[in-house]
This record gives sequence, structure tokens and C-alpha cells, in this order.
Amino acid sequence: MNCKRQSSGDISRRRFLGSVGTTAAATSLLAAAPGVAAQRPATAEPPRRKIKLGWVGCGARGAWLAGLFKQHGGYDVHAVADYFPDLADKCGDALGVDKSRRFTGLSGFQKVLESGVEAVGILDVPRFHPEHARAAVAANCHVYMAKPVAVDIHDLGFITNECPDGLLWNHQTI
Ligand SMILES: NC(=O)c1ccc[n+]([C@@H]2O[C@H](COP(=O)([O-])OP(=O)(O)OC[C@H]3O[C@@H](n4cnc5c(N)ncnc54)[C@H](O)[C@@H]3O)[C@@H](O)[C@H]2O)c1
Repeated sequence: MNCKRQSSGDISRRRFLGSVGTTAAATSLLAAAPGVAAQRPATAEPPRRKIKLGWVGCGARGAWLAGLFKQHGGYDVHAVADYFPDLADKCGDALGVDKSRRFTGLSGFQKVLESGVEAVGILDVPRFHPEHARAAVAANCHVYMAKPVAVDIHDLGFITNECPDGLLWNHQTI
């Protein structure tokens, strides 16, 4: 896996949030407040640089949330994946993702991680959430993940006990 860090190599998961002024947006996204999730506060400074974001799962909610990240302005949606090619394409078109970085099938998420992203949105089906989050964290990616974060107690243990501090996840419903 090849999830890129900032070139200086010193970005922490906490700085990831702070560097693009995303704290408010991320909090809102985690709270899934429709309509306000992507807005940066009017007083927020413009992001110094954009985070390279990968996106896995381009269904109804996935496409909507990916659009909010794009709308926020602090993210460059660099790669997308969905099991179905037509959904990956539709999402890729909407987010301005190059056709060469629209991946499909069951291994699409791995190709997203290998594409040079720094953060990943995991919005596919719950069965895959722990596996994909584990791979993303192992690749040094920041993670925003849909609920439920896991579907059995074994995988829930990974998310709650082993996941490094700073992994973004929706803690409201597990
Ligand atoms: N819809 C909601 O209101 C809602 C609310 C809270 C959380 N969620 C969660 O958000 C996630 C997405 O919800 P949705 O409504 O967009 O579902 P959806 O069924 O519309 O989309 C899921 C997408 O994931 C893709 N997918 C499945 N396995 C994949 C894999 N291995 N690799 C790549 N793509 C894969 C599917 O092809 C599909 O397009 C789900 O985990 C769901 O539990 C949904």
C-alpha cells in the first residue's frame, strides 16, 4: 500500500484536521448534519494546501458525502472506487477525478490506497468497513468511515482497541 504522507513526512493525524481547517467540517460530517457538513466557517482561513482524498463506495450516501468533501474546498478527490464501474464513473465525473484513477471490483479500494492519497472515505457496505479501514490505516491514511464501523465483535475490537488515535470514525452508532 502506498498512502502518501505530506512531503515533509511530519503530518500527524491531528494536524491533518488542523492544516486544512477541517475540524468544524469533520465534526459536522461525523454528525451527518445535512446541508451544513461541507461548510467551513466564514472566518476560517483558506486551506494552505488540499488533502489528497480517496473515496471508496459511490452509492447514494457515498456520492453525497464525497460531494460535500469536494465542496468544502480543502480536499482534492484524487481517486474513487466502487464495485460497479458505472457508479465509479458517475462519481468520478461529479468529483473531477481522472478516468485513470476510477477503480472497480473488489480490489478497487487497494488501488485507491496505492494511488497516492493521504486520506480515504470508506462508504461502501459495512461488511468491508473493518478490512478497508485496517488497510488504510496500515497505509498511513487518515480515515473517514461510515457507520456501522463493523458487523461482528472481532472487527469491532480492532476499531475500538487497536485503531491508532486520530482515525476518524463515526462513533455515534456502532
Ligand atoms: N443511507 C444512509 O442513510 C446511511 C446512513 C448512515 C450510514 N450509512 C452507511 O453508509 C454506507 C453507504 O451507504 P449507501 O446508502 O451509500 O449504500 P449504497 O448501497 O447505496 O452504496 C454502497 C456502495 O458500495 C459499493 N461497494 C460495496 N462493496 C464494495 C467494495 N468491496 N469495494 C468498492 N465498493 C463497494 C456498492 O457497489 C455500492 O455502490 C453504508 O455502509 C451504510 O451503512 C448509510
